[in-house]
Parts: sequence; C-alpha cells; structure tokens
Amino acid sequence: MTDAKFLSFEGIDGCGKSTQAKRLAAHLTTAGQEVILTREPGGSPGAEAIRSLLLTGATDKWSAETELLLFTAARRDHLERTITPALSAGKIVVCDRFADSTRVYQGATRGDLRGKVDELHRAVIGREPDLTLIIDVDPEVALARGLARNSGEDRFEDFGLPFQQKLRAGFLALAAQYPQRCHIIDGNRTPEAIFTDVLSLATS
Ligand SMILES: Nc1ncnc2c1ncn2[C@@H]1O[C@H](COP(=O)(O)OP(=O)(O)OP(=O)(O)O)[C@@H](O)[C@H]1O
Ligand SMILES: [Mg+2]
Repeated sequence: MTDAKFLSFEGIDGCGKSTQAKRLAAHLTTAGQEVILTREPGGSPGAEAIRSLLLTGATDKWSAETELLLFTAARRDHLERTITPALSAGKIVVCDRFADSTRVYQGATRGDLRGKVDELHRAVIGREPDLTLIIDVDPEVALARGLARNSGEDRFEDFGLPFQQKLRAGFLALAAQYPQRCHIIDGNRTPEAIFTDVLSLATS
C-alpha cells in the first residue's frame, strides 16, 4: 500500500496537521495496516510530561536554548519508547510534527540556533521520517482556527501573526531544502480536498 513507514505532518499552528494525521491513520488502519498515531512534543509518557512544560505558560517562560533542549529530550524519549519499537514491529508511524518543527520554530525565534538544532539532531536523534507532508495555510486563517479551539496549549499561537508568517516561510524553505522527503499541500481547502492529496502522496 505505502512504502513510507514513518510519516510526519508539519506546518504552522492550526494548519490542520492533527485533522489530517487522524484521517490518514484511520484510513490505513481500515485498509488493514498496523498504524501508530503519535505526536510531538509528546508521544510517550516522559515526552508528554515535557510537552506540558513547553506548551503552557508565558511566551518568555524558556529561553530558545532551553526550549531546544527540552524539545530534543522529548523527541529522544519518543523515538526510544514509541517510534523505533513500532517501526521494528513493522507498524506504520504517523507522527503529528517531528524534527522539522524544531528546525523551523528555532529558526523563527532565533535563526542562529539552527546550527545547534542540526548538531543535536545528529548527536541524539539521527532519524528522519520517510515522508513529510507540510500543510501550507494562510497564517491568518490558521491562527483563527487554532485559537478558536481554546486548547489551553496556546503558548506558540500567543507569539502572534508575524511569528506565524515567519514560520510559514520557514516551512516553505525547509521543503526546498529536503525536496525528496517533504511535500507541500495546499491547506486552504476543505479537510476532504486536502485529504485526497494526503492519500495520494502517502500511498504512491
Ligand atoms: N481544512 C480545514 N478547513 C477548516 N477548518 C479546519 C480544516 N482543517 C482543520 N480545521 C479545524 O481547524 C482547527 C485546527 O486544526 P488542527 O487541530 O487539525 O490543526 P493543527 O495543525 O493540528 O494545529 P496545532 O498546530 O495547533 O496542533 C480545528 O478546530 C479543526 O477542526
Ligand atoms: Mg495539532
């Protein structure tokens, strides 16, 4: 059905990643595949504990460096406890955000940290998804969608519209950097129309 075993969804806050990740996992499960739907930050008990430290509270709660270490610690735990065991057991892993989010968010908050992001990734993560679907949405639309959810995990949304615009540019640049792995999908459409593209990319 699909050669990609480890798929990630990326894009700015509120672009529709979780919506599409859920749909894809449900579709593949119905088609008879063993699928793990997971998310970052989080995806394992230790990483979920770090998630709540990262996504709640004031925007200046952590410095960009500390934030990077926390994200990377969470990712390492997620990889060890959830992703690697699932892939070893032959399951498909659908991941709602992965390392690309760290590259883009740290790049947007403090561009000069990107070198450290890459160094840490090489040292303790060393794994990329087989396929990454970036949902590209007008930041104004996405911000309204995200905040409307009132999830209580709005620390990044609270950085505001210019930040989301920087993030969008960051994801587009990332797609240009990794053209084999990353595909951009127009997210300014209905969830159904977007899912048609998700499915054709994930199963081709
Ligand atoms: N294509 C769409 N059109 C309109 N609304 C959508 C669409 N996709 C998702 N939504 C709605 O927008 C909100 C945000 O979607 P979703 O949670 O999937 O985004 P997300 O990218 O996972 O956000 P976050 O980065 O904050 O986790 C939800 O309320 C969802 O129901
Ligand atoms: Mg989400």
